[in-house]
Amino acid sequence: MSADAKKIPTPVGLLAELTHRCPLGCPYCSNPLALEPRADELDTASWKDIFSQAAALGVLHAHFSGGEPAARRDLVEIVAHCAKVGLYTNLITSGVGLTQALVKELADAGLDHAQLSIQDSEAESADRIAGYSGAFARKRAAAEWITQAGLPLTVNAVIHRANVARAGKMVEFAVALGARRVEVAHTQYYGWAMINRAALMPTAAQAEAAIAEVEALRKTYAGVIVIDHVIPDYHARYPKACMGGWGKRGLNVTPSGKALPCHAAETIPGLEFWNVREHSLEDIWFNSAAFNAFRGTDWMREPCRSCERKTIDYGGCRCQALTLAGDAREADPVCHLSPYHAKVAEIGEVAAGSKEIDCEPAYVYRRVKLPEPAE
Ligand code: SF4
Ligand code: FES
Repeated sequence: MSADAKKIPTPVGLLAELTHRCPLGCPYCSNPLALEPRADELDTASWKDIFSQAAALGVLHAHFSGGEPAARRDLVEIVAHCAKVGLYTNLITSGVGLTQALVKELADAGLDHAQLSIQDSEAESADRIAGYSGAFARKRAAAEWITQAGLPLTVNAVIHRANVARAGKMVEFAVALGARRVEVAHTQYYGWAMINRAALMPTAAQAEAAIAEVEALRKTYAGVIVIDHVIPDYHARYPKACMGGWGKRGLNVTPSGKALPCHAAETIPGLEFWNVREHSLEDIWFNSAAFNAFRGTDWMREPCRSCERKTIDYGGCRCQALTLAGDAREADPVCHLSPYHAKVAEIGEVAAGSKEIDCEPAYVYRRVKLPEPAE
């Protein structure tokens, strides 16, 4: 390890996209538009080796994500291996694809925690958002199996125009499902969410009402459920420190083994992502150009370079800077100090001018192949 590498903190978490296969088609999915096929997925031995390397590197948390991780037949074996090498294990699941027997096997194998996504508190709307009839009922059952197996449950709820009026109801639903924690996150606009932005973005008034409703529930449910609330970027003054800072706290590994500093990093042109098939995790983390590209603050331009918040938010999200300002080196345009902030305001105004939703927005559902663009 070089002297410079010694100054780089070791990662806390590794998010393993075990597969991009998923029965659901959520229009805000964080997976890339070009989903990786099953034939390219890492095999069981490779995943086990990666987790062993992660534990040796100092990683504490293994997050199993996808797609739907339960689509992998070797999920129990992978979980058992992670438990053996001392990692805290977290299953991030749609619930569709789980069975009661599988949940019990996972718990017996050492799974520590499960995170279940919900799309809405009402069945019909939830199934339409997921693009899967019956998803709501299967998620209810999955929550029951998870809590019956003695696993702590977190419910993830992504807020957008079709469910924004029920943000509070979704918290209540999480309580009814027996969750100890609920993460209410307003949609982040990259990838699938970006191409669905017009159908997903709520008006500013809707977003503000939802924020107030969820915040008010903190008092109601104090001691019952922990509410993690991620407010919408487009209505904020400052950006969030995306990933806690680039190459600082965690990394993602795609189904085919590409190591990414964040889930949308592949959208940034010019970055080359090393694969765990060819490089050790340690080498990737400390030495790969992609992980060093936006690490720390040396890469920053003004206004970030001389800003007192630069080690608080690290200039926000590189992928959002690329999407909205056209260059990943710019300050995240969500920041009111960014010269591109007007673009965010413009998008917010367009949403504010849009009529309140009482019709069904048309989504481009997440699927393996994007439809051809209209003539
Ligand atoms: Fe953060 Fe840059 Fe804005 Fe300062 S100028 S608050 S560092 S995004
Ligand atoms: Fe890539 Fe934020 S999603 S840096």
